[in-house]
Amino acid sequence: MKILLFGKNGQLGWELQRSLAPLGELVALDRHSLELCGDLSNLQGLAETVQRVRPDVIVNAAAHTAVDKAESEPELARTLNAMAPGVLAQEADKLNAWLVHYSTDYVFDGSGSTPWLETDAPAPLSVYGRTKLEGEQLIKATCIKHLIFRTSWVYAARGGNFAKTMLRLAQERESLSVIDDQFGAPTGAELLADVSAHAIRQVAGLYHLAATGETTWNWYAKHVLVQAKRARPAIKIIANEVKAVASSAFPTAATRPLNSRLNSARLQLTFGLSLPPWQQGVDRMLAEVLA
Ligand SMILES: NC(=O)c1ccc[n+]([C@@H]2O[C@H](COP(=O)([O-])OP(=O)(O)OC[C@H]3O[C@@H](n4cnc5c(N)ncnc54)[C@H](OP(=O)(O)O)[C@@H]3O)[C@@H](O)[C@H]2O)c1
Repeated sequence: MKILLFGKNGQLGWELQRSLAPLGELVALDRHSLELCGDLSNLQGLAETVQRVRPDVIVNAAAHTAVDKAESEPELARTLNAMAPGVLAQEADKLNAWLVHYSTDYVFDGSGSTPWLETDAPAPLSVYGRTKLEGEQLIKATCIKHLIFRTSWVYAARGGNFAKTMLRLAQERESLSVIDDQFGAPTGAELLADVSAHAIRQVAGLYHLAATGETTWNWYAKHVLVQAKRARPAIKIIANEVKAVASSAFPTAATRPLNSRLNSARLQLTFGLSLPPWQQGVDRMLAEVLA
């Protein structure tokens, strides 16, 4: 099996390089790749890459993920998050290949408190959410053999992440203020990559894929600090308080959904998987970061 991976150096792309490697020949690209075009803003180049590689599976981990920046560059966000996946879908379909793609809880408006199902109506609040939704729609309309995983609050040991930021701030400040009105589940890039490798070439469709359980950014921050103290008693955490504040305390260019809970039952049932509680992956990532 030949697999063509886009976005190899992102949080998810990095983990996919590991999880996809044993499945066959892996051609992994990023936007700076020279021999083959891996730049999602070059639609012609993307099509040519697929035509030259002739993969059995295309995996797209690249995206315009800067949620606030997308508000001021909607055309670029649309090219990367919608048009490029559309081109990949067209080229995959011509080859009768699979396309694996990732989307987001931000396709929903965040109302209510029930975990979102795949059948719930999307109503994105931001350019990022709208362009990611358009990407999903183009794929569904073009390529039958698609797997689209909608996930939430992605983190990885590599690169920056919320937990690392909290650890740093907790060593610099007396107290922290962290949002407590957005609900979701932090989901590890490792988990996403492992599930993708398992599900590849099986049952096409749209699946929610998030760790189980739920938290807020505020509870998440508290969990990180407790675990950090436990793992490394010598670590000096000054912050003795994590204040709960509303999203309105931190105005951002893009509006975030308050309810980002995803119901991943369809995925678990279809692929015979049991997704772990969010704390499991976060604790593992913290152990690596603090080692
Ligand atoms: N992060 C989250 O919380 C989250 C939540 C829900 C869904 N998702 C989805 O999950 C997927 C993976 O996200 P992630 O967390 O791994 O994001 P990430 O770490 O920001 O990685 C995105 C990758 O896309 C690349 N990229 C940006 N512009 C590109 C271009 N023009 N051509 C080619 N590559 C380009 C980036 O490369 P550079 O490093 O060179 O910019 C980066 O490697 C995305 O589809 C995202 O929408 C993410």
